[in-house]
Amino acid sequence: MKIIPFFLCFLFFSTLLSLSLSELCNPYDKKVLLKIKQSLNNPYLLASWNPQTDCCNWYCVECDLKTNRITSLTMFSDKELSGQIPAEVGDLPFLETLEFRKLPNLTGPIQPSIAKLKNLKFLRLSWTNLSGLVPDFLSQLKNLTFLDLSFNNLSGSIPSSLSLLPNLGALHLDRNKLTGPIPYSFGMFHGNVPSLYLSHNRLSGKIPASLDNMDFTAIDLSRNMLEGDASMLFGSNKTTGEVDLSRNRLQFDLSKVEFPKSLARLDLNHNEITGSIPVGLTAVDDLQFLNLSYNRLCGKIPVGGKLQSFDYSAYFHNRCLCGAPLQSCK
Ligand SMILES: *[C@@H]1O[C@H](CO)[C@@H](O)[C@H](O)[C@H]1NC(C)=O
Ligand SMILES: *[C@@H]1O[C@H](CO)[C@@H](O)[C@H](O)[C@H]1NC(C)=O
Ligand SMILES: *[C@@H]1O[C@H](CO)[C@@H](O)[C@H](O)[C@H]1NC(C)=O
Ligand SMILES: *[C@@H]1O[C@H](CO)[C@@H](O)[C@H](O)[C@H]1NC(C)=O
Ligand SMILES: *[C@@H]1O[C@H](CO)[C@@H](O)[C@H](O)[C@H]1NC(C)=O
Ligand SMILES: *[C@@H]1O[C@H](CO)[C@@H](O)[C@H](O)[C@H]1NC(C)=O
Repeated sequence: MKIIPFFLCFLFFSTLLSLSLSELCNPYDKKVLLKIKQSLNNPYLLASWNPQTDCCNWYCVECDLKTNRITSLTMFSDKELSGQIPAEVGDLPFLETLEFRKLPNLTGPIQPSIAKLKNLKFLRLSWTNLSGLVPDFLSQLKNLTFLDLSFNNLSGSIPSSLSLLPNLGALHLDRNKLTGPIPYSFGMFHGNVPSLYLSHNRLSGKIPASLDNMDFTAIDLSRNMLEGDASMLFGSNKTTGEVDLSRNRLQFDLSKVEFPKSLARLDLNHNEITGSIPVGLTAVDDLQFLNLSYNRLCGKIPVGGKLQSFDYSAYFHNRCLCGAPLQSCK
């Protein structure tokens, strides 16, 4: 009869022993993660975050294989998870990836302690209900290659300091309530020139002339209140692939614009663009999408290239465009 409790005891201690021997997770990181779980009121999404198990095996996190420090924290798609981003996320100093996405009940500001995460490369806080400003401190995270704050409730203007991020490949600030102009500094990205997604905001004023210096792979400024010239975004020596400026109040003469040969998508619909369609557009061989509708363009649609492969709705509602696919010129 005595042998059974002894056996259970042995089993208990040997389990403990094997756990402590095989546990990879850094104990400091583990403590921080458990605080994060508590701050979020122990959501079901984090049910695997059991203090008795190795945190390198928990859902939503990844450990570095050599150092066993937490390098990635990713919370995704959960309607239940509610509250604010816990301040403790700033206490995971080896974090390279931080993602909170599709969490409609995640509210409050962009957590200031994120400023401490100097190794961060990938930051995505998207499809949440975060509000307040796009913080200036993001410019201190020099290792960032990807910054996505899209689909939130962010307001205020875009901090010009974001142009100080030397390694940024893409900047997504689209689908917020951002106001004010596009910073002049966005014509002075050093190192990498990020693809820029600023659509569906309330940005106003002119597109800075400084953007002439930038060769964006993709730029989407659609659905804002931008005015004036946009011709600086083009140029025969650029390698831009996608330009979407639709639904703004842009006013410039399209006739003299030289398009990059690399252009694959060009959407200028719903602006106040004047002049005619330059013949040069027929030489853009890779053009897959074109929409020039709802502008003030005039004259004959040049024949050639891809221009006749788009239907009339790519050209309709202009002042006096004519020729295929619209009706022939008189
Ligand atoms: C999520 O937020 C909505 C309102 O914004 C609320 O009705 C709902 O109860 C919240 N869900 C949870 C699980 O908190
Ligand atoms: C923000 O919350 C509202 C309800 O409060 C909800 O309708 C909306 O979908 C949420 N936004 C996002 C991006 O989840
Ligand atoms: C970027 O990350 C590397 C390690 O990946 C680190 O050594 C470096 O200090 C970081 N850069 C900055 C500016 O913190
Ligand atoms: C979005 O922000 C506005 C203020 O800019 C606020 O009135 C509104 O309640 C916020 N909506 C949500 C869902 O947080
Ligand atoms: C394009 O050429 C102009 C001069 O014609 C020059 O000022 C500009 O820097 C060039 N841009 C790129 C992206 O090479
Ligand atoms: C161009 O944009 C207009 C306005 O949004 C739309 O009605 C039309 O279908 C679009 N045409 C093409 C070819 O994209």
